Amino acid sequence: MRVIIESDYDAMSRRAAEIVVEVVREKPECVLGLATGSTPIGLYKELIRMYREEGLDFSKVRTFNLDEYYGLPPAHPQSYHYFMRQYLFDHINIPPHNINVPRGLVKDVQAYCARYEQMIKEAGGIDIQVLGIGRDGHIGFNEPGSSLASRTRLVALDEQTVKDNARFFGREGDVPRFAITMGVGTIMEARKCLLLASGSKKAKAIAQAVEGSITSQIAASALQMHPDAIVIVDEEAASEMKRRDFYLYTEKMMAERLSR
Ligand code: F6R
Repeated sequence: MRVIIESDYDAMSRRAAEIVVEVVREKPECVLGLATGSTPIGLYKELIRMYREEGLDFSKVRTFNLDEYYGLPPAHPQSYHYFMRQYLFDHINIPPHNINVPRGLVKDVQAYCARYEQMIKEAGGIDIQVLGIGRDGHIGFNEPGSSLASRTRLVALDEQTVKDNARFFGREGDVPRFAITMGVGTIMEARKCLLLASGSKKAKAIAQAVEGSITSQIAASALQMHPDAIVIVDEEAASEMKRRDFYLYTEKMMAERLSR
């Protein structure tokens, strides 16, 4: 696991964009795994800027989103379909048929989830998966107790997650109680994983995910077993990691070695 500590949210977002863009430039027909939530908004802004100002091309890129609230239609302003259009897809040249976000209104959920997995396979697998982290250590909507081998499925949201997401809905009562999410096992098959976290509210979850035991109680801890996982955090989110200084030192040493 590589841990990169940046000074603040903007620096974290720029660094994340550099890593995503490297994948897109090396493989224009790459498959991006994307997340919603507050954390990746800065990364998406930077990707849009690079599309506009530097000609970054998304015409062959395909995407798969991690999750969607169950029961929300794509046009609902709080749906993840809507979020992705608002913060990324409407502002870059990605063809709509290359975009995949789990559908929140399907009837046969089990068959749909199996198909979503199949579609990822048929696309050749995910080249880089962008992830945020919940305060309970979730990635996607894999709440504590999710099997580390879990696949795309319907899940019930944890009370904490419902509370945390109430800020987007206005009222806690309006937050859907279920979601469709890629499983931890699905996420772990991405060739590269990029976990982002910003702010002191994420500090404990990040310390547990990076330095704690690997456990289904903290889904993000599974990334310790991933061969190419990068964690980018700002100073506040880094504040509870015991080996913080070591991560800074390692990055500095590696950067110096590369510039030699
Ligand atoms: C969203 C997702 C979630 C969020 C996490 C953090 O697609 O999969 O795991 O990444 O809840 O959310 P924010 O970034 O809003 O703090």
